[in-house]
Amino acid sequence: MNRTWWKETVVYQVYWRSFFDSDGDGYGDLEGVIQKLDYIQDLGAGVIWLNPCYESPDVDNGYDISDYYSVMEKAGDMNTLERLIRETHRRGMKLMMDVVLNHTSDQHPWFIDARSSKQSKYRDYYIWRDKPNNWRSYFTPSAWEFDEATEQYYFHSFAVQQPDLNWDNPELRQEMYRMLRFWLDKGVDGFRLDAIALLAKQENFPDSDEPENLSYLTNNPKLHDYLREMNEEVFSKYDIFTVGEAGFTTPEQGLLYVDERRRELNTIFHFQVLDEMPTWDLRRFQTIQTNWYETLKGRGWNSQFLNNHDHTRLVTRYGDDTRYRAESAKAFATMIHTLPGVPYIYQGEEIGMTGVRFDSIDDYHDVAMKNKYYEEVGKGHDPKDVFESLVKLSRDNSRTPMQWSSALNAGFSTGTPWIKVNPNYTSVNVEEDLKRPDSIYRYYQALIRLRKQYGVIVYGDFATIPYSDADVYVYTRRLGTERILVIVNFSLYEKRLAPIAEIALDKAQLLIGNYPEVAQPDTFRPFEARVYHLA
Ligand code: GLC
Repeated sequence: MNRTWWKETVVYQVYWRSFFDSDGDGYGDLEGVIQKLDYIQDLGAGVIWLNPCYESPDVDNGYDISDYYSVMEKAGDMNTLERLIRETHRRGMKLMMDVVLNHTSDQHPWFIDARSSKQSKYRDYYIWRDKPNNWRSYFTPSAWEFDEATEQYYFHSFAVQQPDLNWDNPELRQEMYRMLRFWLDKGVDGFRLDAIALLAKQENFPDSDEPENLSYLTNNPKLHDYLREMNEEVFSKYDIFTVGEAGFTTPEQGLLYVDERRRELNTIFHFQVLDEMPTWDLRRFQTIQTNWYETLKGRGWNSQFLNNHDHTRLVTRYGDDTRYRAESAKAFATMIHTLPGVPYIYQGEEIGMTGVRFDSIDDYHDVAMKNKYYEEVGKGHDPKDVFESLVKLSRDNSRTPMQWSSALNAGFSTGTPWIKVNPNYTSVNVEEDLKRPDSIYRYYQALIRLRKQYGVIVYGDFATIPYSDADVYVYTRRLGTERILVIVNFSLYEKRLAPIAEIALDKAQLLIGNYPEVAQPDTFRPFEARVYHLA
């Protein structure tokens, strides 16, 4: 496949409200991001993905936009955003905006006007029906909300305050393309397209036999017509990078988005790992990887990630966040940065930040978690049980402030942080990590350097080497005569490896490993990972 800058890059995700607070109001902000750009640049990232910072009532942390053309006060202002773009570029990096095309805030002027009268010019920008069907939304028991003024229901895939837009309306589509061009003309280098699989709706909204299975919201007919049009009208006119968030997407459906000949998006996030694997299951993971690789091979590009602002920290969920925190953080990183696809780092992952456990539902902010909590408690379930069932996967696990140092509030803010800091900040923080000889941050740096040095890691063919132990992942990447071998032990135990495909590990060149020295080439310690160059 042809070579392009975005295939070779590593993306660093900045959840700005929890990244660095420059003015002491308790919220991270764009000025704070500017002040930490060197930190991101030193890591080696090429692209920054900035979570939404548009004007918003902030019911869903910025994913409920009330003005696509302005910056919310908590984040800063347009001048600061423009400076952030310039400063990012000055450091040789690119900036990707997160844009929400599926819905607006209920405070967006379009919706305020639309709900005021059936004759509103904007009525048809949204979806109205006389009767609801039986669908759920992601955050509420019904996807429909009755609106008194005009006595109809409007459709919302997420919170009640996030009405879905009607993409069938050509004027609405043009409005959105105009908005996308506005940002690209400002110099942003691409988009993370929120909830993009939801843009098209099923015709007539038939009831579902399985209302709890939200897949009816996604991948509906016409979606790809919209994406092709968007590409033609906007993306194709710029040298940018796009990644669509596509829940409930199989490899065959995924190919429709990213097949280069179809000209829609560059890449997507599929959630077959994060949505279907609550705990680590290497066999299942391998199957998912192989299926996606085989389906996209030679036609489209993948993404690699194991956490983000919606999915709890990878060391807590999949690794070990106590004794082997550093080893497991590095083991997963080794894999993410050597599998085929663009690797993503979610802020704090590079120092092995962990999930959190607060004592009370009042300490949590995540609208998804809170709505579910009150829904279940409302049905008469024991509040303690409900709380326990939601804590582990709460989105707030990954939204706690970035841990810069052991100073007050982890060095994140001099004010009161909008969300509590993870109490382990006294030992888990950037300053502490950089002091250690086994720094996780520096291991990430080394992985990123390796990727730049060895084109085979980006462009090489991928093959799994079948191995009998269900905790050990062995694969190769091959480009021309160049070949690398990756071996990861995803367990808490030492493993003595049987010979692998007649490869003599003692003769192979070790490129990187997450233990200081290799005593015996065939022995892999807990969460040990190594990358070899094979002659
Ligand atoms: C995406 C975002 C998530 C948000 C939702 C609704 O899944 O990542 O944070 O709540 O879309 O916009």
